[in-house]
Amino acid sequence: MSSTNLFMDTLALKPTPRRPIWVMRQAGRYLPEYREIRARYSFREMVQTVDLATEVTLQPVRRFGLDAAIIFSDILVLLEALGVPYRITENKGPVLDRAIRTEDDYASLSEAPVSDSLGYVYSALGILRQELPTDVALLGFAGAPWTLASYLIEGGSSTTGFPAIRALLETNPALFGKIMDRITEGVIDHLKNQLASGADAVQVFDSWAGMPTRDVFRQAARPYLQRIADALDGEYVIFYPKGAGHWLTKEEVHQFGILGVDWTHSLGYYREHFGPDVVLQGNLDPAILMTDAQTIRQEAWAVLDSHGPAPGHIFNLGHGITPDVPTDHMMALVDAVHEHSMETLQ
Ligand code: CP3
Repeated sequence: MSSTNLFMDTLALKPTPRRPIWVMRQAGRYLPEYREIRARYSFREMVQTVDLATEVTLQPVRRFGLDAAIIFSDILVLLEALGVPYRITENKGPVLDRAIRTEDDYASLSEAPVSDSLGYVYSALGILRQELPTDVALLGFAGAPWTLASYLIEGGSSTTGFPAIRALLETNPALFGKIMDRITEGVIDHLKNQLASGADAVQVFDSWAGMPTRDVFRQAARPYLQRIADALDGEYVIFYPKGAGHWLTKEEVHQFGILGVDWTHSLGYYREHFGPDVVLQGNLDPAILMTDAQTIRQEAWAVLDSHGPAPGHIFNLGHGITPDVPTDHMMALVDAVHEHSMETLQ
């Protein structure tokens, strides 16, 4: 890895000439070149076919000159590896073949290491690391145990805040714990294999971390994140607990080291609370990408200014880019981040 990699230097808290930028869900439906491939293949086919996953991963990096590529995959591949396949439906999001809510359901899960059936992810990462220039970082990822268990226990997406996981936690905490243990073991296995196959860093998406109460998050979700952090000590792991970043104490964030944050609090607020020696990633409100080039630039600069010039900031949205964003708006965002850094150098 060359020493001019802005993303990796930022993870190491080294000063950089400008902030690195990538965007969650950067490979996706807002790109015409993605939609062209998607018209011919199902989402799962795209994820599982190494050539297609590789191509789609590279699309946004080529078009926008981003500083990191994230492997085109999904957090749900891990549930499939546990024996519960998924489908992505047009309007309802992901649907699983079945929900896991009883001891019998739990006993039906596969006992094989998840990495046994996720070789296509590792092959794509190996190819990508070779194809990408050394100044572009390559990210692997997994869902966090709480978020994956939310889908697994619900049997798919929920528009009502995933009630099944919260009910199971109350009615059968022992079974909840077993499910979380099995998923956590899978997440660690999957992340380790991605790092060994070419990923320079990994991100853990806890998209539903902010859904339960703060106490439930602390007792039932956070300890499993800690287990992942401990198992991957010495590696770069970005924790993204959506809706819950502000619930973490300074000590907890220091144990993670790298925190992805949503837009509900300013970066300046997080920086002040957590101190100078954690890396922060975020946190433009994705809705800003639906406005216009001038507003995008203004709001992107507001995020950069809120953080200030200290090292340790990776620019991103506070959550994934939405499918309706015009590609020139995304380009305006990347330009704005590049230009801001040039201003600050003068
Ligand atoms: O960031 C990237 O570009 C890499 C690819 C990526 C996808 N999903 C591709 C995808 C990543 C990192 C994910 C993570 C993911 N998947 C999360 C965590 C991040 C977040 O947004 O909070 C979650 C919760 C999922 C589960 C999932 N997969 C949902 C809820 C959906 C449907 C959402 C929708 O927009 O329809 C998916 C499908 C999915 N995953 C798509 C993509 C590009 C859309 C599939 C399509 O083309 O129809």
